[in-house]
Amino acid sequence: MPANPSSLLILHPRLNVYLKPFVLSLPHFSSPTLSFNRARSFPIPRHPFPIGPTRNFSSLSSTSVAQCSGENGGDGGRSGALSPPPITDVVQKIDVNPPKGTRDFAPEEMRLRSWLFQNFREVSRIFGFEEVDFPVLESEALFIRKAGEEIRDQLYCFEDRGNRRVALRPELTPSLARLVIQKGKSVSLPLKWFAIGQCWRYERMTRGRRREHYQWNMDIIGVPEVTAEAELISSIVTFFKRIGITASDVGFKVSSRKVLQEVLRCYSIPENLFSKVCIIIDKIEKIPLDEIKKELTSTGVSEEGVEELLQVLSIKSLAKLEEILGSAGEAVADLKQLFSLAEKFGYSEWIEFDASVVRGLAYYTGIVFEGFDREGKLRAICGGGRYDRLLSTFGGEDLPACGFGFGDAVIVELLKEKGLVPELSLQVENIVCALDVDLQGAAARVASILREKGQSVDLVLESKPLKWVFKRAARINAYRLILVGSSEWQRGMVSVKILSSGEQNEVKLDELE
Ligand code: HAM
Repeated sequence: MPANPSSLLILHPRLNVYLKPFVLSLPHFSSPTLSFNRARSFPIPRHPFPIGPTRNFSSLSSTSVAQCSGENGGDGGRSGALSPPPITDVVQKIDVNPPKGTRDFAPEEMRLRSWLFQNFREVSRIFGFEEVDFPVLESEALFIRKAGEEIRDQLYCFEDRGNRRVALRPELTPSLARLVIQKGKSVSLPLKWFAIGQCWRYERMTRGRRREHYQWNMDIIGVPEVTAEAELISSIVTFFKRIGITASDVGFKVSSRKVLQEVLRCYSIPENLFSKVCIIIDKIEKIPLDEIKKELTSTGVSEEGVEELLQVLSIKSLAKLEEILGSAGEAVADLKQLFSLAEKFGYSEWIEFDASVVRGLAYYTGIVFEGFDREGKLRAICGGGRYDRLLSTFGGEDLPACGFGFGDAVIVELLKEKGLVPELSLQVENIVCALDVDLQGAAARVASILREKGQSVDLVLESKPLKWVFKRAARINAYRLILVGSSEWQRGMVSVKILSSGEQNEVKLDELE
C-alpha cells in the first residue's frame, strides 16, 4: 500500500493502484507569461523557392548537364546570384507532407532508424573501423563523371548564392575520396572508415527506393588484396545475422569487372570504353536486350564482341568462367581467392558467383558485389566493390580502395517482409510528479538528482491528475513512478512505486538510486 494512504483512495482499474481524489480537482499549473498564443499566425511565402532556369532546385536534366560543369564561382559566398525567397504577408496553409520521396521520422520511425544505425555502428566498431562524415552539400564537380551513369541524371544540383555549382550528395564515396586526397600522406594506411549519411537521388520511386535515403558505408583504403573485399562482405553478413536475417533470406552476387575487361581485351576494345560498357551492362535487367546490344555496338564493340560478352555475362559458375577465361587472368584468381576466404570466414552459403553483376557506378575496377533478397521482391539491399582508380580522377594519387553502401530503406522493407521489425517502444526509467503545485520545485530537484546519476526522467511539468500520470507512465513504459508529496517531502522522503509489481516504498532523497 502507498505510504500516504489517506491521500490515495481510488483504485486505478488497469494499474491496480490507488488514486488521490483531491489531485484530480487541482487547477492546471499554468503561467500567463508563458502561455502560447495559438491564434497567432506567421506569414508563409507563396513560393518557398524562387523558380527559374538557374534558380531551380531540381534534378539534373539532360539539357542542363552542360551547366553542371563544376566551375565554381569564388567570391567568398556573399554575392547574390539568387534572391532570397519573397516575403509575403499572405497566410497560406502549408502542405504538411514532406517533399515527394522524402520522409519525416516521427518518434516511432526514429526509434527504428536509431536501432538500425546502432547496429551499423556496432558492426563497424567490432571490425575496427573509424567513423567519418562529410557535408551533405558538395561541389557538383565531385559527382560529374564521364561515363553516363544513372546517378548523374538523378543529381539534385543547383547554383548557390556565390554562383557555385553545388549538389546534394547522391552517395558518399566521392566525398570519402576527396577527404583521403586532402589528408594525403598525413594518414597511415590502411584506412578503415565508416560513415552513415543521407544521400539524395532524384529517383523514380519504387518500393524501398526514395529520393532521399541514408547509407551506411564501410571502406578500406590502402589494401590491394582481396582480403579487404572478404572482410567487407563479412561485416555485412555479421550485420544481417545481428538483425535476424539468415542466408536463406539474403545472398550476395559476386563478380569482378576484370571479367569484362578480359573479354573486351580479346576484342581490342579500348580501355577508356570500359566503364561505359559496364554501365550499359548494369541496365541488363531494366531494359530490353536488343537495346543493350544497340547501346554496346554504338560504343564501338563489334557484334561478335557483344554476343561473346553477353554469353560470358550469363555464367553463374566460377568453374565455367575458368573454362572460358583460363586460370591465368586476375579475374578468376581474385574470385577464387574471395570464395576461398569466404569459406574461412564462414559465410560461403551467403555468396554466389554471377557474372552479370557489374554495378552501375563508373569507378569500380575489380570485385563487385550486391546483396539481394532471395525471394526477388526487392531491389539491391547493398552493393560495393573495388575502386582502385577513383582518386586519380579527382587529381589525387591512386590508392587501392574498396567499400560498400548499404541503404536504410530496402532493409526495412525486408524486415517487414520477414516479420523481423523489432518492437521498439519508448522507455523512460522514471516518471516524477509533484502531488501539489507548490512541490513542482521539489519534483524538479528529484529529477535533477536522478539525471545526474544518468537515469532518464520524465518530469510531469504541469499539475495533472494522478490518473493522467499513470496513463502517461504506461505510455512511456516507465519503470517507476516517484511521487513528491508534502508529508514525505517534509521528512526528506519521496514515494517510489515500481510500476510492474505495484510495490511502493518511501525512500530518502539521498538514498534514491
Ligand atoms: P549504390 O549501389 O548506388 O552504391 O548504393 C548503395 C545502396 O544504397 C543500395 O544498395 C541501396 O541499399 C541504397 N540506395 C541507393 N539508392 C537508393 C535510393 N534511391 N533509395 C533507397 N536506397 C538507395 C553506392 O552508392 C556506392 N557509393 C557504394 C560504395 C561505397 N562503393 C564503394 N564504397
